[in-house]
Amino acid sequence: QTKIAVVGGGSTYTPELIDGFARLRDALPIGELVLIDPDAGRLDLVGGLARRIFARQGHPGTITTTSDLDAGAAGADAVLLQLRVGGQAAREKDETWPLECGCVGQETTGAGGLAKALRTVPVVLDIAERVRRNAPDAWIVDFTNPVGIVTRALLQAGHRAVGLCNVAIGLQRKFAALLEVAPGDVHLDHVGLNHLTWETGVRLGGPEGENVLPRLLAEHGDAIAGDLRLPRQILDRLGVVPSYYLRYFYAHDAVVGEMRTKPSRAAEVAAMEKRLLEMYGDPSLDEKPALLAQRGGAFYSEAAVDLVASLLGGTGSPYQVVNTYNNGTLPFLPDDAVVEVQAAVGTKGAAPLPLPDLDPLYGGLIANVTAYEELALEAALRGGRDRVFKALLAHPLIGQFEHAEALTERLVAHNREHFPWA
Ligand code: G6P
Ligand code: MN
Repeated sequence: QTKIAVVGGGSTYTPELIDGFARLRDALPIGELVLIDPDAGRLDLVGGLARRIFARQGHPGTITTTSDLDAGAAGADAVLLQLRVGGQAAREKDETWPLECGCVGQETTGAGGLAKALRTVPVVLDIAERVRRNAPDAWIVDFTNPVGIVTRALLQAGHRAVGLCNVAIGLQRKFAALLEVAPGDVHLDHVGLNHLTWETGVRLGGPEGENVLPRLLAEHGDAIAGDLRLPRQILDRLGVVPSYYLRYFYAHDAVVGEMRTKPSRAAEVAAMEKRLLEMYGDPSLDEKPALLAQRGGAFYSEAAVDLVASLLGGTGSPYQVVNTYNNGTLPFLPDDAVVEVQAAVGTKGAAPLPLPDLDPLYGGLIANVTAYEELALEAALRGGRDRVFKALLAHPLIGQFEHAEALTERLVAHNREHFPWA
């Protein structure tokens, strides 16, 4: 009987996951699902809806809730991490104070992403240690952002961990719809770091299939560019599809200008979460509400099911986009950098597929952000203003001494309660 534990199970996102587990139960038959969360109130609301979704779809598995991490994780086959230290309130700050220095304010990119990493890495490492004690053979699937840095922290500490994000599966689904083929028939040549990726090819059938990216761009360039909120010209000029996070690089100043005039995404999400929790409390609701589709996490449940199915039984898709050790895949990066690429996934874990030489246009930025991530992890593990400052100075969107100093002050001031060293 397969046991899955979800840390951060009280998240308003959880019904998305449950819906995927219910729909895809043949791919991943779950006997026991445990939602773990420190917030008992949320667990009641989310757990109740989760059970109703399973019941409506005739899923025979049991769903339990607990705030006791050790008990919840005990004997699990896989543990999903989807937590947010400090909640949307902390995210709201991350998205706001960097703007005072003319820098993008974003959940995972730039100074806000560093703040999130510093709050999150110690908490995740502590959780992973307890998972290892209570479920030594469990796979840890990390959705917790910033996924690249958190996954590197987990792997460095020797955990059986794989990092996962929904950007690639979202593009795969989108391209499949445009091409009118089944999602599983679309293979992405996906390269980069989490939230810093490019699709350099779109193949039909598998890694050796025909590359239809030129045709896709010619026929559907406007639709794709519109989704990414990037000018179509960028896609045509480069001949690749950047993830929408590249917007914060390729259109940095324009985005900062926009962010200064609009409420933060965290504020929008907080309002949605309030509404969602009210809905979850309604005993007649037994499916994921449409409102959830307005969150960024579309298809994350399908990515999770596919990955866990492969890790536990080798029964998911043979190739999946995951975050794992580089190990020579991008030869200009250290082996222990964490990259986001296509990998062969099975019960032994994820092994990246070899990649052709990469255009320096992408390689340069990847190398730069990898250096930032290494310094960010140092700062998260060891603390100290100076390490924070160095990580900020290394970030390609910051770079200037004055900005790095001003951002260090703000980052520490807004997160003091999370940093024992401050
Ligand atoms: C996508 C990203 C996630 C991110 C989310 C934000 O799903 O891959 O890493 O957390 O968007 O969505 P939100 O609705 O919270 O803005
Ligand atoms: Mn992501």
